[in-house]
Amino acid sequence: MTTTERPNALDPAQIDGLVDMDPEAFRSAAHAAVDLMADYLASVEKFAVFPAVEPGSIGPGFPTAAPETGESIDAILADYSRLIEPNATHWQHPGFLAYFGTTASGAGIIGEMLTAALGQNAMLWRTSPIATELEGVVVGWLRQALGLPDAFDGLITDTASTSSLIALAAAREVAGVEAAAHGIGGRPDVRQMRVYASAEAHSSIEKACMTLGLGRDALVKIATNDRFELLPDELKAAIARDRDAGLRPIAIVATVGTTSSTSVDPVAAIADIAAAEGLWLHVDAAYAGAVAICPELRGPFSGWDRADSIVVNPHKWLFTPLDASLLLTRRMDALRAAFSLVPEYLLTLDRATPVRDYNEYTPQLGRRFRALKLWMLLRWFGLEGLRRRIRHHLELTADFAAAVDATPEWERLAPVPFSTVCFRFRPERLGADETALDAANAAIMDAVNRSGDVFLSHTRLAGRFTIRLAVGNLRTEARHVERAWELLQSAAREVAP
Ligand SMILES: Cc1ncc(COP(=O)(O)O)c(C=O)c1O
Repeated sequence: MTTTERPNALDPAQIDGLVDMDPEAFRSAAHAAVDLMADYLASVEKFAVFPAVEPGSIGPGFPTAAPETGESIDAILADYSRLIEPNATHWQHPGFLAYFGTTASGAGIIGEMLTAALGQNAMLWRTSPIATELEGVVVGWLRQALGLPDAFDGLITDTASTSSLIALAAAREVAGVEAAAHGIGGRPDVRQMRVYASAEAHSSIEKACMTLGLGRDALVKIATNDRFELLPDELKAAIARDRDAGLRPIAIVATVGTTSSTSVDPVAAIADIAAAEGLWLHVDAAYAGAVAICPELRGPFSGWDRADSIVVNPHKWLFTPLDASLLLTRRMDALRAAFSLVPEYLLTLDRATPVRDYNEYTPQLGRRFRALKLWMLLRWFGLEGLRRRIRHHLELTADFAAAVDATPEWERLAPVPFSTVCFRFRPERLGADETALDAANAAIMDAVNRSGDVFLSHTRLAGRFTIRLAVGNLRTEARHVERAWELLQSAAREVAP
């Protein structure tokens, strides 16, 4: 039954009930919602990828206070169709080529629905034996799929930001600071700590330093070469300088697939330095890590098996609905040292047996049952199915990069190790006027995005406004990437005739 066929009536439970929706009413409403979802996915291309809205234009369409009495599910779903769906940025749209794409795949969405219905809290084994044990299973499946040794254990968090925060907290414990017990403020015995990452590392690393009380000053941003890859000699020199200055290095973060250009830090050389210096090595492969499920494409990951911790986000390029971040580590003991706190009310008899209570390894207590959707989609796609799609995205990207390379007045601004192309329009008549080039490229991107057919985002590389095209959506076909290229070229003709 579709929403239009349903009576616009209240459920008796909404009038004087003391319990939840009646199961049969739920069945019918949920079927209607599934119809909406299927219709949305089937016709997402009817929307502009980014809606034609201005900031502040949406909120006033909603009442200023919650209703006193319940409203029919039909009315709510009708408003969902009217107010919610059209005002979304359509990450599910095949023309979504901005940031790093993510797709909520069918199997992943079904997993989310079942997760919500089961209502598990994966904080303790006792609060969800299945969520706890399936998390272990899925972490093992992903680890093997990525080609990493079984010395890596791990867990699933919400985002890479949290995963990296946890990794750096663990690194600090391993450094012997005992911050979990004593904090770091007002302690003359604790030297100022330092974390090293390339100048291209994601802001989540700096944020982790802020959150952990190390401060943004603690992050030493190491220079990169002209391919935006960390320079190991600069790293070595910075560590030596800091040691001489009486500071306390604790960790190095290497990135495989940086956010701006998807550059690849030389992980093996960095692992050598981490080993020689006795520092924790964290590898941020939040976006690009998915590629490692293809054995023939593991070159850029060489050396990551020597890391203490690695983050890969299934919610980026493994078609998992937000949120799901995989944190792998050889040092679960260190994570536990950083975060374990077990008050009486969380003690259970199970503690006499070796159960894993995942909350002991993370800052938060309550945890979503994220393993369910991963288990479902890994089974639905199969690893071969995932590999096929990732290889296809790499082909689409290579074709786009080749078109940019072959076209006069366009230039690529970074190598393309994965599925993201960084480029700009550079007409001869603007010469070396970088300000004018920045303005022209910003205007081109804006014009393309206003078309609604595709959605691109930008960054700045070597000071230059850089347009990025990132393939990662399951629905993206050659025609969408080709359309982006057509739109870019026609916008360029308009902007800088
Ligand atoms: C390399 C890298 N690390 C970390 C992140 C942060 O990811 P999340 O949004 O899951 O915290 C991103 C986001 O794009 C990223 O590109």
